Amino acid sequence: MCGIVGVLAQGPVAGSIVAALKRLEYRGYDSAGIATLEDGRLQRRRAEGKLKNLEAKLVAEPLGGTIGIGHTRWATHGKPTETNAHPHAARGLAVVHNGIIENFKALREELAAKGFGFATETDTEVAALVVEDEMASGKTPVEAVSAALKRLRGAFALVYLFEGEEDLLIGARQGAPLAVGYGDGEMYLGSDALALAPFTDRVAYLDEGDWVVVTRKGAEFHDAAGKVVQRRVQVSPAGSLLAEKGNYRHFMAKEIHEQPEVVGHTLAHYIDMSAMRLKPFDWPVDPKTLSKVTIIACGTAHVAGLVGKYWIERFARLAVEIDVASEFRYREAPVDPNGLTIVVSQSGETADTLASLKYVKEHGSKTIGVVNVPTSSIARLTDVAAPTLAGPEIGVASTKAFTCQLAAMAALALGLGKARGTLSDAEEATLLAELVSTPALIAEALKLERATEKIAQAVARARDVLYLGRGTSYPLALEGALKLKELTYIHAEGYAAGELKHGPIALIDQAMPVVVIAPHDPVFEKTVSNMQEVAARGGWLILIGETHAKAEAAVEIEHFLPMPEVGANFAPIVYAVPVQMLAYYTAVIMGKDADQPRNLAKSVTVE
Ligand code: AGP
Repeated sequence: MCGIVGVLAQGPVAGSIVAALKRLEYRGYDSAGIATLEDGRLQRRRAEGKLKNLEAKLVAEPLGGTIGIGHTRWATHGKPTETNAHPHAARGLAVVHNGIIENFKALREELAAKGFGFATETDTEVAALVVEDEMASGKTPVEAVSAALKRLRGAFALVYLFEGEEDLLIGARQGAPLAVGYGDGEMYLGSDALALAPFTDRVAYLDEGDWVVVTRKGAEFHDAAGKVVQRRVQVSPAGSLLAEKGNYRHFMAKEIHEQPEVVGHTLAHYIDMSAMRLKPFDWPVDPKTLSKVTIIACGTAHVAGLVGKYWIERFARLAVEIDVASEFRYREAPVDPNGLTIVVSQSGETADTLASLKYVKEHGSKTIGVVNVPTSSIARLTDVAAPTLAGPEIGVASTKAFTCQLAAMAALALGLGKARGTLSDAEEATLLAELVSTPALIAEALKLERATEKIAQAVARARDVLYLGRGTSYPLALEGALKLKELTYIHAEGYAAGELKHGPIALIDQAMPVVVIAPHDPVFEKTVSNMQEVAARGGWLILIGETHAKAEAAVEIEHFLPMPEVGANFAPIVYAVPVQMLAYYTAVIMGKDADQPRNLAKSVTVE
């Protein structure tokens, strides 16, 4: 993840910006930069590698000025070079950016047609040039940024600095976090409260879709429609857990909201966003020689593997065997000595998964580890890493790690398909465009938070809950049930919707909510029939589907969550969000500890 800082100070600002960037080093980066106004003129210093290289540059060529922006970059579009380092500039302005601008190629073409040139291969430069384009028609900086934000699509946070504007910074949040810090006659912007800790503990957070005009007098927040809104200023003691929780009550809530950013970050590890092509992957065995893939994991990671099974079978035309590690390790399963095993684990320390990994390695299988902790035992033992870049996941219930596991599994499935020749270049490009749209769609799904909280009021009164889904929504039904069980202690089961008639339909009555996960995919109509079976028996339906799904279901739906339209292929990455939020808010309403549910450990390092 990239790190963003903006400072409006009373004295020299360059050193303060670097100090704040140091607080963001934990996010990982490969270049850094800073821009200030010296006598109203924009000046930049950027350097490849670590902050010490930027500091050396600032010693050699000091930067004056009392207003500036800074950035630590984790390369997504374009190599980690000084040229591609932020801040990026256009005529009379500079910008720093965290996240992905999904439609940057179309914008580049639009701007090129207007005669704009490009100094870099980054999507960030496009975010600068779009504002220049808006200002060329006479708009003020504030009007230009407001107009430009309507043209940008993706999951990102931005901070703009303008030549001649010694008392103005403009920030925006669409899917990636951004905070405003309040000083004495000074103001700050940063990716999180930790970045602002060197300056202040008084912090306000932009809501999804907000943009903010910051001067030394204060901050004026605007919502996505441009309306001036109030955002609560809170005291966030520097470095405390509270600071790390941001403005969330629990780590789980924060981590649910981090998903647009970290899923984008994970996808960027596998996809060249500029070329919209998969990056080369170091397969430990030639995918063309494979007759099957084995996937082994536990809990939520197993659910991610189950979704991966559908994708690998669909895109790579490869059979997949999957099992929970606690069963696999004792099954004495035959192992193909020329085969491939994928183990999935957030912690990389789960005992059963580690034991299964050792078992398959002893029997000659090559291995890939979809792991969130790169220094963990499983990460170190697998032949090739396929990392999830979710960052530290503190909540015991896995959320952002899960969607990052899905992102990695999707990239692996497409990569296997390309390597085996079952996906053409054109199909790859189409599928990647759909996959890269998921961070922004997650940000859209997060806007259902209040509606989900209302439904949770009803679920909190239930004794049992049934989750149903078909196709890749079936594993999500399992995940929904797991989340509800582990967070609220309500008994819940996930079922393949087509299995309803083979037994579970006997459970249906008015007392038991039935949560149906139904994106508009090829099996949607089949799922509608299952909903009608539930309704015909007086069941209580909670539907998670696209806006038209409720009308198409043509049955009494007690509660409905209208999801954004997502493509038919990668819906689980987006539909995981309402499933997570439903369990979270039910737990909060029931007064349960959402971060540390009873009896659970974050990593099960014993059998
Ligand atoms: C997830 O919500 C659970 N806490 C649990 O099922 C977890 O996914 C499982 O223990 C596997 O952990 P791992 O991903 O660290 O291997």
